[in-house]
Amino acid sequence: MSTEALAELNARFGIRGRVTFTQAAGGLIVAAVRNAQATARIALQGAQVLDWTPAGARPVIWVSPAAMQAPGKPLRGGVPVCWPWFGPHATEAGFPAHGLARTQCWEMAQVQQLSDGSTTLSLRLSQDANTRLLWPHDTELLLLANIGRHLRIDLLTRNTGDEAFTLTQALHSYFAVSDVREVVVRGLEGLPYIDKVAGGARRVQSGPLTLSDETDRIYLDHGGECVIDDPGLRRRIVIRRQGSRSTVVWNPWAEKSAAMADMGEGVYRGMLCVEAANAAEDAVVVAPGGEHRLQVSYRLAAW
Ligand code: BG6
Repeated sequence: MSTEALAELNARFGIRGRVTFTQAAGGLIVAAVRNAQATARIALQGAQVLDWTPAGARPVIWVSPAAMQAPGKPLRGGVPVCWPWFGPHATEAGFPAHGLARTQCWEMAQVQQLSDGSTTLSLRLSQDANTRLLWPHDTELLLLANIGRHLRIDLLTRNTGDEAFTLTQALHSYFAVSDVREVVVRGLEGLPYIDKVAGGARRVQSGPLTLSDETDRIYLDHGGECVIDDPGLRRRIVIRRQGSRSTVVWNPWAEKSAAMADMGEGVYRGMLCVEAANAAEDAVVVAPGGEHRLQVSYRLAAW
């Protein structure tokens, strides 16, 4: 982006001392948000939250030390938006994993400083000839990121065409943890899940979830709260959702993470993905003129 375009972005959407747009190394445009409750960074590419740190706390969102921060490349960490499909495309093997939204450049629509002290950034993804090759349906996609004591993200899909469409999606949040081998995820007990590591076998979660190996699961029929208990950091991350009936839990573990160019040796230990999703049989149908809202909120709770 040219210096003039960046200055224009700051003139239109910047708030002195609160919201500043900069060009990061690698070329991505990033909005840095600071208020009395938290700091955050959001990349315009993918409308991807890269960081959220409540005042006085340690960062809650994880970004890989080896993440590629380059235009058009998926960035390992933060909260990537998987849309309008989650995982591989159902029929087109050549289409990008997790859809098109995470590598597109979104536009800023609005910045609001709210009376409760939090800040909301709204971003919009427009369709063009390239995205229509992957997703031909007339659609408006908006993301609202509310930065405060909570991080709340709303992803709104509006069907502006005259035919219904079906989508899968996820807010693919990477959480920073002290050691993934020590954390406990509560709230999934008794739920059926698809175990992608076991070739899609169906299983049922018995008791709270602890991880001791590669984990890649889609928990189904789950609209409730999830909590990551992290004894090492002496904190709990509380995850609440609306418009989401599946939860994905992912960690590639030692071998896979060592082989991934954007992760590396031992890096898997510091992260855990718990994703608010509509995946597998939880696909969403949006009627003509209709809207679907996927909302997630994260907050820290004391140990
Ligand atoms: C998870 C999927 O949500 O994302 C995994 O369940 C996938 O199967 C992981 O490997 C990472 O995907 P990507 O495309 O960002 O490497």
